[in-house]
Amino acid sequence: MSSLAGKFSTLRNNIGTFGLILTVREALAVILSPTYETNQFDRQFGTETSSLVSVRDGQLPADFRKDAQRYEPAVDSILRHIFRRLPIQPKDFIFIDVGCGKGRALLHASMYPFSKIRGVEISPVTSDVARRNVEIFSSTAANLQRCRDIEIDCQNVIDFEIPNKNIVFFLYNPFQGSIFESFMRRIYDCSQRAPDREILVVYHNPWSGEEWLQSSGCFKKIYENRVIMPRLAWNLWVPLRSM
Ligand SMILES: C[S@@+](CC[C@H](N)C(=O)[O-])C[C@H]1O[C@@H](n2cnc3c(N)ncnc32)[C@H](O)[C@@H]1O
Repeated sequence: MSSLAGKFSTLRNNIGTFGLILTVREALAVILSPTYETNQFDRQFGTETSSLVSVRDGQLPADFRKDAQRYEPAVDSILRHIFRRLPIQPKDFIFIDVGCGKGRALLHASMYPFSKIRGVEISPVTSDVARRNVEIFSSTAANLQRCRDIEIDCQNVIDFEIPNKNIVFFLYNPFQGSIFESFMRRIYDCSQRAPDREILVVYHNPWSGEEWLQSSGCFKKIYENRVIMPRLAWNLWVPLRSM
C-alpha cells in the first residue's frame, strides 16, 4: 500500500471509530502540538533522539522497570525556554540530566557554557545512542557548542555519585516512587553537607513527584511554568537550608 493510501485508510478507520468531529479535533491536536516538531532537531543536526524506547526495549533491569519511564525526548521549544530562564551563570554550574535517554537535553545544554555536562542513563541501549549523538552533534553543531565536556554514564541513578559542585539537575519525568524519593533525598542531604554550594532541580513534566516535593519539607519551588498540556510544564526547585 502506498503511504498516501495508508494514511487515507487510517483516517477512514479513525472516522469510523470516533466520528468526524473527534477525528478533526485529534488531527488538529497532533498538528498544533509542539511534539510535532520532534524530528526537526534530528533533521537539522543528523542525530537520532526522536524515536521512543520502551523500558523493555531499553533492557532496563527488571527490578527497576516498575518505577521507570520509557525514553521519549523533551520538546525542543521547552528546552530552549528552560535554558533561557535558568537564573544562573552556566559557567559556574555542572548540568546533569538524570535519565538522559538519547541525550536531546544534553545537546541543548551544550549550547550554553556549563562547566561540565553529565548524563546518567540506566538503559545500555539508549546511552549508547546518546554517546553517538554527542559525537555527531560535536561535528554538525560545532559552531553552536559552548561546552564540549560531556560525559554519559550508563548506570542506575541510585549508584550515581553526586559531585561536590554547583549543579543544575534536569529531570524530565525519568522515574517515580521510591527511586524518585530516595534520589531527591540524597540531593537534599548533599546540599546540607555543603551549604555554600548551589543546587537547582528542573522538574519537567512534573506529575509524579510534585506531591512528594511539596510535602517533604526538603525543597522549595522557586518557579512554576504552567501550560495547557501538563506534560509540557516545568518547575524549578531548590533544597531548603536548615537553620
Ligand atoms: C522521559 S525520558 C527523559 C529523556 C531525556 N532526559 C530528554 O530530556 O530528552 C526518561 C529516561 O529516564 C531513564 N531512567 C529511568 N529510570 C532510571 C534510573 N533508575 N536511572 C537512570 N535512568 C533512568 C529511562 O531509561 C529514560 O531514558
